[in-house]
Amino acid sequence: MRWLVTGARGMLGQDVMAALRARRETVMGLGRRELDVTDEAAVRRVIGDYRPGVVLNCAAWTAVAAAQAHEDAALRVGANAQAVKQRVLAARRELRAMLAG
Ligand SMILES: NC(=O)c1ccc[n+]([C@@H]2O[C@H](COP(=O)([O-])OP(=O)(O)OC[C@H]3O[C@@H](n4cnc5c(N)ncnc54)[C@H](OP(=O)(O)O)[C@@H]3O)[C@@H](O)[C@H]2O)c1
Repeated sequence: MRWLVTGARGMLGQDVMAALRARRETVMGLGRRELDVTDEAAVRRVIGDYRPGVVLNCAAWTAVAAAQAHEDAALRVGANAQAVKQRVLAARRELRAMLAG
């Protein structure tokens, strides 16, 4: 099974990557530079291309003071966990439809 880790360069992301590699899992870790989780088209493209079995979203806006000053942008990162989940479900539906057709 393939794992996709977003926010892979953060504290949590790095630990998750190390744990998955130690278990010899097939994993692709992407930092913000490779995948901005607020970029819906990019998320869709990566999930569609890589077809992960699991997505672990470790991306987060953790600069609390800056989040207050940039509330909309901070909320977009937080809200995206749900959006990533929807993309995964959509990709799974598309794959099932392809296999059935
Ligand atoms: N660390 C802990 O002990 C701990 C414990 C419990 C829960 N958590 C939770 O785990 C989550 C991550 O925490 P953390 O400690 O790993 O924080 P972190 O070190 O600040 O890592 C967050 C990562 O998310 C990336 N990121 C921010 N916006 C992004 C975007 N739009 N697209 C893609 N990546 C983006 C950041 O990239 P940049 O560096 O480029 O901004 C950073 O690499 C948070 O929800 C936190 O509450 C952490």
